[in-house]
Amino acid sequence: MSVTVRVPAKVNVQLAVGAARPDGFHDLANVFLAVSLYDEITATPAADGLRVTCEGPDADQVPLDRTNLAARAALALAQRYGRAPDVHLHIAKDIPVAGGMAGGSADGAGALLACDALWGTGASREELLDICAELGSDVPFSLVGGAALGTGRGERLTELEVGADFHWVFALAVRGLSTPAVFREFDRLGEGLDIPEPVADQAVLDALAKGDPAALAVAVSNDLQPAALSLFPELSDTLAAGRAAGALAAVVSGSGPTTAFLATDAKSASDIAGVLRASGTCRDVRTASGAVPGATVLD
Ligand code: C5P
Repeated sequence: MSVTVRVPAKVNVQLAVGAARPDGFHDLANVFLAVSLYDEITATPAADGLRVTCEGPDADQVPLDRTNLAARAALALAQRYGRAPDVHLHIAKDIPVAGGMAGGSADGAGALLACDALWGTGASREELLDICAELGSDVPFSLVGGAALGTGRGERLTELEVGADFHWVFALAVRGLSTPAVFREFDRLGEGLDIPEPVADQAVLDALAKGDPAALAVAVSNDLQPAALSLFPELSDTLAAGRAAGALAAVVSGSGPTTAFLATDAKSASDIAGVLRASGTCRDVRTASGAVPGATVLD
């Protein structure tokens, strides 16, 4: 018997970042939208201990040791319920690795839900969300999906209404960016400046609720974008290519380096994807739409 869970990627339609806190994290106003690029995590009983395997185009970049969030999720759940973490976790990876789309977080949330179902722990939704928050700032959102405002370091979620599907194009970069490095660069660029408290932008929330891509395009923002561009200047060329191809908005996704392009509809997204693919400014191009549900056990 095994359990498979499907988990979506995310794009940030607003990422407001405050000053560094004493614990090194940053307070955020983080508006997440779950989009239809998925990892699938399959948990199968194992005789002896924990094993992680991975398949997919970026599989060689995925750590298979206990630094993998899927492994950490299984260990955290096993410890809480006083059982041995005897499980094989297989990740079918489609979300870009180190791309700013919460791929690692998706695997953490997926493994947690898969092991919970496999072991029949009966953990409550609150308990699962607590474990997610311990695993990482974006992991609770991977469990919940849809659209949500994340405050604190991003882990305290308020679900948001979404009036219609939004269509996106994602350009995958030739290399990854480390999230801590991007936050460090944000701190360096902000040295000596007065960094305001991060607050959710009502225009973003209204545009999501209305399902209005033109309004969302005007409101979308990412405070980490200057830091990501400073570490990876070539991303400006990708953003420009997407804008020239007719994207309503072009933005770095989270800490990057994946760039996200908002389109009016599915046809336009497919046209923009074609132009970006031919532009030579990225490694690969994907289209996706959202909001979509969070981690889901498949039959
Ligand atoms: O929470 P998570 O482990 O995903 O965070 C990865 C890194 O990103 C942290 O170690 C920290 O450097 C940075 N981070 C931050 N403020 C946040 C979230 C993440 O500085 N709110």
